[in-house]
Amino acid sequence: MTDTAVTDTGTGYGREPSSHDARLTEVGPGTPMGEALRRYWHPVASSAALTSDVPHRTRILGEDLVVFRDGQGRAGVVFERCSHRGSSLFYGRVEDDGIRCCYHGWKFDVQGRCLEQACEPGGGRRRNLARQPWYPVDERYGLVFVYMGPADRKPELPRWDCLEPLAEGEQYYSSWPVPGAEVTGMEADYNWLQMYENAVDPVHASWLHSQHSGFQFQGTGTTGFPESYYDPSTVAERVTYHRTDLGVKYVQRYQDKSGADGALVDLDWSVELQLPNILALPDFVNVTPDARHDMLIWVVPSDDTHHRMFFAIRSTDSTHLESFAFGIKQNGKDNWQMSDEEKQRWPGDYEAQRSQGDITQHSEETLAPSDRGVVMLRRMLRTMVDDVAAGRDPLGVGTPGGPARSVESGVFTAGGA
Ligand code: FES
Ligand SMILES: [Fe+2]
Repeated sequence: MTDTAVTDTGTGYGREPSSHDARLTEVGPGTPMGEALRRYWHPVASSAALTSDVPHRTRILGEDLVVFRDGQGRAGVVFERCSHRGSSLFYGRVEDDGIRCCYHGWKFDVQGRCLEQACEPGGGRRRNLARQPWYPVDERYGLVFVYMGPADRKPELPRWDCLEPLAEGEQYYSSWPVPGAEVTGMEADYNWLQMYENAVDPVHASWLHSQHSGFQFQGTGTTGFPESYYDPSTVAERVTYHRTDLGVKYVQRYQDKSGADGALVDLDWSVELQLPNILALPDFVNVTPDARHDMLIWVVPSDDTHHRMFFAIRSTDSTHLESFAFGIKQNGKDNWQMSDEEKQRWPGDYEAQRSQGDITQHSEETLAPSDRGVVMLRRMLRTMVDDVAAGRDPLGVGTPGGPARSVESGVFTAGGA
């Protein structure tokens, strides 16, 4: 029975309405984060999968776009809505020099210039007055990148030392090995920052990826992590967080067997995030100490409540791609094979992140010391937004050319090179 003599505390009654931090999460044109993100290049498609066949529609930073490759091999990104009377260029036809709208046959090149207005005399004598809004593209590492920011502030597309040069026999893997997702990737239905913050939250592996999902990424000392990697009672003392030139990284110390004698060695698992949305995650299934890093991931917002992950892997074969795409099983199954009840019993990253909400409610959070990486990342993102709002270049933008950027990710023998 309830003791009516004592007043209950902490009940749900009368709480203020919850809210999210719009400055960190909302990405549409004109929003503070949207303007900051528009100062960087973002992947929009996989180069190899983008052929001169049908166009593809996508949504990036809240804008509906069509991605295509014309018959001359040039990639193009234009507004989906035709600048004549608004039909979707998703139903357009890719031709040698552009894309042609299905409704009245206006044709636009990769820079949106109107090449022809099929139903106007002479192909449209005033066609030069029509312009389909477009964005600059560049291709590198097997990805098509788009720049959606102010034209006079366009930076060079950066290079990264982990992805080049290709060694003998290597190639780039940048397509999801899933039918239908090869070209513009797979969309997840929650805010991009929930995914991105997860990458600088190693503590969740010690709980979600072991105590709830079952031990994941687990190996024998030559493949994944040993069980001791996870130990939730010691993880807080085994992880350190560091600012890097372009972002933040964490280093997680653990012990694993090494060599034929099976002696235990100290290893440092390190993951770097580079602003605004890049993640350098080593292969967590085939953990290879002291190997050169070989992969970048981009968490690209589609809009405020959806995002897509793009990646580029430098490799001689598809092993890393497969471990990245299919390496996280829940109770031995892929997520899409599970019933709701199985997901309750064996939740994984998707269940944890998606259930935070379309956009997590920051007003309802209770941050703790083990959220240090998340706090560091948010602080850097806020600075990035403030810089752009004040007319300054954000981190990593504004330095032309230069050497390939170094990436501080991998698993390293502690005290080694
Ligand atoms: S609406 Fe596209 S050509 Fe008319
Ligand atoms: Fe995770």
